[in-house]
Amino acid sequence: MRSGQMKFGVMLDGIGGSHWGWRRAHIDPKASTDIDAFIAEAQSAEAAKADFLFIADTLSITAKSSPHFLNRLEPMTLLGALASHTKHIGLVGTLSTSFTEPFTVARQLASLDRISQGRAGWNIVTSALEGAAHNHSQENLPPVEDRYRRALEHVRVVEALWDSWEDDAFVPDKATGVFFDPSKLHPLMHQGEFFRVDGPLNIARSPQGHPVLFQAGASDGGRDLAAKTADAIFGLARTVEDAKEYCDDVKRRAVGFGRSADDIVFMPGLDAIVAETEEEAERKYAEACAYVSYEESLGWISFFFSYHDFNQYDPDAPFPELGNLGKNSYRSVTDYLKRIAREEKLTLRQLARRFAIPRTDFIGSAEKVADSCQRWFEAGAVDGFLLSASVGRLQDFYDLVVPILQKRGLFKEDYEASTFRGHLGLPAVPNRHAQARETLR
Ligand SMILES: Cc1cc2nc3c(=O)[nH]c(=O)nc-3n(C[C@H](O)[C@H](O)[C@H](O)COP(=O)(O)O)c2cc1C
Repeated sequence: MRSGQMKFGVMLDGIGGSHWGWRRAHIDPKASTDIDAFIAEAQSAEAAKADFLFIADTLSITAKSSPHFLNRLEPMTLLGALASHTKHIGLVGTLSTSFTEPFTVARQLASLDRISQGRAGWNIVTSALEGAAHNHSQENLPPVEDRYRRALEHVRVVEALWDSWEDDAFVPDKATGVFFDPSKLHPLMHQGEFFRVDGPLNIARSPQGHPVLFQAGASDGGRDLAAKTADAIFGLARTVEDAKEYCDDVKRRAVGFGRSADDIVFMPGLDAIVAETEEEAERKYAEACAYVSYEESLGWISFFFSYHDFNQYDPDAPFPELGNLGKNSYRSVTDYLKRIAREEKLTLRQLARRFAIPRTDFIGSAEKVADSCQRWFEAGAVDGFLLSASVGRLQDFYDLVVPILQKRGLFKEDYEASTFRGHLGLPAVPNRHAQARETLR
């Protein structure tokens, strides 16, 4: 049985990612762009000793997008502000490898790492919405295989740029006029399939050296990218068996690429509905269900198929045969939807409902939800969870579940490390040039 302590991240998404979440009584409809609301949420997460905050992002909207997507803050700008209102919690933001240049990404994250004194993380995404291409001067979204090839090269260039300067390169001496040691500055001169980058980066090596890399792709290409590059993985896991399959598979792939299984922390999403009693939690679940109309649940499915129009299908007929539709979008999600519709013979209405507001192991009394967290963790299916609150409430989890897990020794009482890598139990990454010199000695 697996021992140790689990990790928690917290997804902050203002009014909530779903189409209907903003209508809940406790939600302020302006929360997605209200910096004071984000600061309050960040400080609550830190008071609960969460390991990190996560700000997700996408790069195109339509009138059918969920309300939070229509009007939200850019992740790096937001995290920069949150850095100065928190002290310990990690700060993870999404940036797309398909629509950014590695030089800019390396610079943004190194800056965030310095501003936050070692708390930055990057959620590496390849972007799955066709519209993202149309906002970035491209005719079409490149095929998923090309996007993942570009992602790997992008990440490798970013990592190399982070090693432009050795840790002790800057030695400013006013008397001699020497500002830095030129032997500790390393240009890159990278020429690859997608990028040409000379380097070096115009900021010193940051406190963590390499900010923490997250990945969430679950298709074959996504899992390989995660196994090669990621320190931590988000994922969608509906059951403990799903989670174990995903976790074991990516860790096995990582070992195949010469890494250790312990180099990767697996933390799938968890949206808990928790209360003092079982009955109260069921009442909250029923209340949440009452908000979700068929149209709203359909909107959520449609997003993963790059906003395909599902209104054209009969809601009460079997889920339509869609062929390759969705393969170039959120592939693992669209494959999953097609598979469970087929296996469980669901209609479009049933599938949309189930996906919008699933019944998970994490609905119930605080004891029951804590038991589920413990069971998933001890089964070796997860290293922790990414908490979100599209259905439930984060504060309920902090107040009711966290103390139980702390009492059981399964979650820390206080921050123990000084960097985000340290919170996740990940080693520091040495500068490759300094290390090479050490090896030659
Ligand atoms: C918890 C979680 C967070 C994610 N955050 C983002 C995000 O911020 N932006 C984005 O474009 N995709 C995000 N994704 C989607 C993944 O990056 C990926 O595109 C998706 O899981 C499909 O992966 P696949 O293309 O390998 O099948 C997220 C997925 C999960 C499970």
